[in-house]
Amino acid sequence: MTTSSSKRPQTSVLRVFQSKDQTRSFYNKISGVYDLLSDRSEAPMRKSGLELLKASTGERVLEIGFGTGHSLVAVAKAVGPKGKVFGLDLSDKMLKLAKTNLAKARLLERTRLRCGDAAQLPYADGSMDGVFMSFTLELFDTPEIPKVLRECKRVLRRGGRIVVVGMSKDAKRDPLIGIFEWIHMHFPNYLDCRPIYVRKAIERAGFTIKRALKKHMWIPVEIILAYNG
Ligand SMILES: C[S@@+](CC[C@H](N)C(=O)[O-])C[C@H]1O[C@@H](n2cnc3c(N)ncnc32)[C@H](O)[C@@H]1O
Repeated sequence: MTTSSSKRPQTSVLRVFQSKDQTRSFYNKISGVYDLLSDRSEAPMRKSGLELLKASTGERVLEIGFGTGHSLVAVAKAVGPKGKVFGLDLSDKMLKLAKTNLAKARLLERTRLRCGDAAQLPYADGSMDGVFMSFTLELFDTPEIPKVLRECKRVLRRGGRIVVVGMSKDAKRDPLIGIFEWIHMHFPNYLDCRPIYVRKAIERAGFTIKRALKKHMWIPVEIILAYNG
């Protein structure tokens, strides 16, 4: 079952002017305090996304922008010893932290993590059963979002699924969206992301929407499950 997309006129999504080097250096700097700053609000959203993804034994799942690795741990447990979890993140410090957390959970062997830009995924066509992304798609500049989703589509097998959890602009007059966007425009070094139309972006990339949840942390969030073909 899907919930229908809003018929309200949509205002345009703000651009992102940070270079990849700036983004990498930002996440390297905050890697040690990322969980402290955001886990309380983001963890329940991620959990809902992982429930929609429903990774199962033996699957191959890719996470883009894995941060400190919470979802990698959950997915690695779900796919079991016969499955494999792949992860790509721009920040080498996040990669180090995620590896430490996976090692603590004794799940490192089930994972293959690397540093890189998700605009070009270093994985073969049709090689994944699932792709997961939380609070990452909204970091890409507007023209890059369809490119990233096209890459996700390419690496997914036919019938494979994608789950995206992201800050949403698709909400009734929420003052926090305006405040968030104002900070993003004036202090892009501190607030590199901005709310986007998550479902719309995924639909436009040619995926078939299966579930679309709208939630609220301190800002609206969309959680979308979609299929490739
Ligand atoms: C806001 S954090 C979210 C982390 C994690 N998904 C979570 O929900 O806790 C965004 C992550 O995406 C990574 N990232 C940013 N730009 C990226 C890019 N172009 N390619 C891959 N990863 C990127 C950052 O390094 C960071 O770890």
